[in-house]
Amino acid sequence: MSTPLLKVDGLTVETKTETGTHRIVDGVSFELQKGEILGLVGESGSGKTMACRALLRLLPSSRLSIPKGSVRLDGKEVMDLPEDQFRAIRGKRIGMIFQNPASHLDPVMRIGDQIAESVRFHHGGSKRAAEERTIELLQQVGIPDPKERSRAFPHEFSGGMRQRAMIALALACDPDILIADEPTTALDVTVQAQILRLLKELRDARGLSIIFITHDLGVVAQLCDSICVLYGGRVCEHGPKERLLAAPRHPYTAGLMGCQPAIGATGERLRTIPGYPPTVDAMPTGCRFHPRCSNEVAECSRRQPPLEAYEPDHVAACYNPVGEAAALPAKESA
Ligand SMILES: Nc1ncnc2c1ncn2[C@@H]1O[C@H](COP(=O)(O)OP(=O)(O)OP(=O)(O)O)[C@@H](O)[C@H]1O
Ligand SMILES: [Mg+2]
Repeated sequence: MSTPLLKVDGLTVETKTETGTHRIVDGVSFELQKGEILGLVGESGSGKTMACRALLRLLPSSRLSIPKGSVRLDGKEVMDLPEDQFRAIRGKRIGMIFQNPASHLDPVMRIGDQIAESVRFHHGGSKRAAEERTIELLQQVGIPDPKERSRAFPHEFSGGMRQRAMIALALACDPDILIADEPTTALDVTVQAQILRLLKELRDARGLSIIFITHDLGVVAQLCDSICVLYGGRVCEHGPKERLLAAPRHPYTAGLMGCQPAIGATGERLRTIPGYPPTVDAMPTGCRFHPRCSNEVAECSRRQPPLEAYEPDHVAACYNPVGEAAALPAKESA
């Protein structure tokens, strides 16, 4: 396979609290090809947002740090770039739509001016050209009457329109990768479907690669090419969507998909996984999922299971995986 557009390796985020130093993102690795839509899934607190913020070096607090991890864009390491050079990557090559658009649009600045400012910041050019590009972008994300609407302030937009404006803002610098953090959670299903269609169109039209963070497996099934499942800040499974939906190997993935029959279950189809995800200051030893796992074996609480390949592009970290086929020999799983 060709060099992936993005390769994240061993990305780790630590937080310092009164109880010590804890890893809220612990050795996360994944790849993204050009034009691929990757779904990043996992329960609340599993580290989805933090992993993406870390790869943009945009941590929300000074108590958080990135002790290690590699991020390669087109095969080139960017994690060790000085901040002024990294700024050319953040926004320009990797755009991000945040979980809460209201908090990332300036409330006292007209929507069009915010987008035009970003266009000029990244591409230069005249004010006039930036305004024209802004209207084009607003049209592209499906905002009706874009010329008129570009003069509106964020509070004059509905939730769906604000989300579209956020997408237009993220696209203003023409990124290769768009990270979309739960961009549709607060929207009604019709608007949600429109936004998902828009993201797919952007991928098809310009080969945009997308990391789509969500809790919603229906959305993943509809939108994504591949899925990466996080639990307690670690990757537990990653592979093509069809494989993870039809034949997940990690019991946590299987639990999320609701396809593993509960012990003694009678006809219930979707089930939630019993128990709660761990908190940062009380991470279980070994596999962080073991206290909730119905497949637990003695090894699970002792050592962290390594990611093993079941297909060259399908990896899972489990000592007692769901399903029959064994992992590939280690040399093939590199
Ligand atoms: N500013 C912060 N300082 C310290 N820890 C934080 C901060 N923000 C989040 N965390 C912790 O980091 C861990 C991962 O949080 P993160 O927000 O990445 O989860 P998430 O998977 O995006 O969850 P959600 O689905 O709820 O958005 C959680 O345990 C959370 O409590
Ligand atoms: Mg989040």
